[in-house]
Amino acid sequence: MRLRNDREGYGSVSIGLHWLIAVVFISQIMLGVVMTRILPETAATTFWAYQWHKSFGLLLLLLAALRLIWVLVETRPVTKGSRGLVLAAGVVHRCLLVAPILIALAGWVVVSVSPLGIPTFAFNLFVVPHLPLAPGDVAETRATMVHRWLAYGTVSVVAIHIAAALLHHFRWRDDTLLRMMPKRRQSAGNDR
Ligand code: HEM
Ligand code: HEM
Repeated sequence: MRLRNDREGYGSVSIGLHWLIAVVFISQIMLGVVMTRILPETAATTFWAYQWHKSFGLLLLLLAALRLIWVLVETRPVTKGSRGLVLAAGVVHRCLLVAPILIALAGWVVVSVSPLGIPTFAFNLFVVPHLPLAPGDVAETRATMVHRWLAYGTVSVVAIHIAAALLHHFRWRDDTLLRMMPKRRQSAGNDR
C-alpha cells in the first residue's frame, strides 16, 4: 500500500494516523468521564487512571501535531458531494485536526497550574515537566472548564463526522468511508 495521498484517496500514513488518533481520542473521553465522575476521588486506582489519562493525552498531542504537519504538506483527496457538503466537511475536518491539540494543551495547563502540583508520570517511565505557569485555584478552575468543554464540544463534532461517514457509505453509496479503510488500493473511478 502506498504511503502518500493522491487526489483520489488516502495513503497509509494518513489512514494509520486517522485511526490511531480516533481510537486514542474516544478512549480518552471515556477515561476522562470515568476518572472524574465514577471512581472514588481518593482511591489509588483514581490516581493511576489520571496518570494514564495524562500519558495518553500527551501521546495524542504528539500524534495530532504530526497529523497536522502531514495534512499541511500532503495532497488532500477530493471530498465527494455537493458544494455545501464539501464546505461543511472542510469545516468539520479542520476542527478535528486542531481540537485534540487544544484539548491536550488545556489538560497540560490544568496539571501545571494546579496548586496540588502532582507530577505527570508518562507511561510510568519518566516525569513530564509542568508548563512554566503560576499555580492557583482560579487558574485551575478556568483551565479545567476550557479542557472539559473543548472535549465535550469536540465529541458533538465527532458525532456529526461519524454520521456523515455513515451517510456517505449507506445512503449516497460513494467510497468516502472505504478510502479511509486500511489495505485498500485506491484507483480513479472506483465509486460503487
Ligand atoms: C485530547 C486529549 C484529551 C482528551 C480528549 C481529554 C478528555 C478529558 C475529559 C472528557 C475529562 C473529564 C472532564 C469532566 O467531565 O470533568 C478530562 C479530565 C481531565 N483531564 Fe483530560 N483529556 C485529554 C488530554 C489531557 C492531558 C494531556 C492532560 C494532562 C497532561 C489531561 C488532564 C486532565 C485532568 C487533570 C482532568 C481532570 C479535570 C477535573 O478536575 O475535572 N487531559 N479530560
Ligand atoms: C468511528 C469513528 C470515525 C469514522 C467512521 C471516521 C471516518 C472518516 C472518514 C470516512 C474520513 C474521510 C473523509 C473524506 O475523505 O472526505 C475521515 C477523515 C477525517 N477524520 Fe475521521 N472518522 C472517525 C473518527 C474520527 C475522530 C475521533 C477524529 C478526531 C478526533 C477524526 C478526524 C478526522 C480528520 C481530521 C479527517 C480529515 C482527513 C485526515 O485524517 O487528514 N475522525 N474520517
